[in-house]
Amino acid sequence: WPASAQDGPAGLTVAGVALADTADRFGTPLYVLDEDEVRSRCRAYRTALPGAEVLYAAKAFLCSALADWITEEGLGLDVCSEGELRLAAAAGFPPERILLHGNAKSPEELRLARRLRVGRIVVDNLAEIPRLAALSSADTPQRVLVRVVPGVAAGHHEAVRTGVAGQKFGFALEGGDALEAVRRVLAQPGLVLAGLHCHLGSQITSVEPYLTAVDRLVELLSEIRDEHGVQLPELDLGGGHAVPYLPGEAGLDLDEFAALVPVRLADACKRRRLDVPRLVVEPGRAVVAPAAVAVYRVLTVKHTADGRVFAAVDGGMSDNPRPALYDARYSVRLVGRASTAAEREVDVVGRHCEAGDVLVRSARLPADLRPGDLLAVPAAGAYQLSMASGYNLVGRPALAAVRGGRARLLIRRESVEDFRAREVGR
Ligand code: LLP
Repeated sequence: WPASAQDGPAGLTVAGVALADTADRFGTPLYVLDEDEVRSRCRAYRTALPGAEVLYAAKAFLCSALADWITEEGLGLDVCSEGELRLAAAAGFPPERILLHGNAKSPEELRLARRLRVGRIVVDNLAEIPRLAALSSADTPQRVLVRVVPGVAAGHHEAVRTGVAGQKFGFALEGGDALEAVRRVLAQPGLVLAGLHCHLGSQITSVEPYLTAVDRLVELLSEIRDEHGVQLPELDLGGGHAVPYLPGEAGLDLDEFAALVPVRLADACKRRRLDVPRLVVEPGRAVVAPAAVAVYRVLTVKHTADGRVFAAVDGGMSDNPRPALYDARYSVRLVGRASTAAEREVDVVGRHCEAGDVLVRSARLPADLRPGDLLAVPAAGAYQLSMASGYNLVGRPALAAVRGGRARLLIRRESVEDFRAREVGR
């Protein structure tokens, strides 16, 4: 839950706004985003890591208002598509603070990035080195990072583990792929090799994998110095910082990360007589996940002869595909009315035409749960709306921001008219 969440006479409030009132006003499913929670998470990163550069990973969730908050809080932005880049640019995000990722950047995307003068581009394959070089010159060089696969396994699910061989991102450290990419970048007069990048995975709960990655990347930095006589000024460790989803769960401890990682980097560099590069981190989930709550309305409650209860809500896998994709676990609670009924086990399911459309399995909810009730799911700010689909032509939900007792709609609900508007033939 956001730090501002409180139980009161109006039921559960976030930033002083009753979730039940907001749900009545804007409809459900509704994502409610606490602006101050996002801002304070940005500040926590800047305070904990004063010597580092913090880039918010837009893939977790991006809209223009969020881009404003990120700019104002002094963070940079990691984008991984033309869409994210265009939205950030249109929102007025300072281009020099944008870093572009992608394993399949299109020629248009690279041209756009050059035209907008984005600060850095992360090279993920050999083919894009000459492509990018052709768009750059020694007078207007492009700063690039080479994405390295350090051979470190971390992350909550196989699908998000990008630090190991056998997946599509980056250049392997092992076997010399990374050194070859470095050679080719250095051979291009229009490109400036600013440093190395790695991203291990997502929802990583321990600092240990980052320390191993630091050791391995510093080893590569020293090989680069030995071979080319250059010292690279930046080391980007990607994102992946975990947040708690369930009561009692722990996220990645930012203070521990901040206490251990820069020291490890400094020590490893000192041992090899390297200048210490500037640390860059790219948290996405840790900035936005805890800042939002998803609010659903219960449509039906089914009691089966074998004793199960299914509470079906008006959203589901189209607004939150994470349970279906990664077996992700969530908590859920009743909002908007008090209940003194005993709790019982309930499967909170979505409205989609698949048995796998389960939002929260085996939740504990009041036994008198009934249609019309509102349910709230915390830690809903990352990889939900950003991964939402139009399955069953159920429109993507609306998003409201809350601050200082007021709610404002940032993104309206998608309607069937939106789907129809894209049809241009029949
Ligand atoms: N940097 C790079 C290069 C990334 O690929 C990612 C996430 C991040 C930063 C931010 O990672 P974060 O701090 O948010 O963990 N849909 C999945 C997560 C996919 C993450 C992809 N890359 C999920 O819902 O768990």
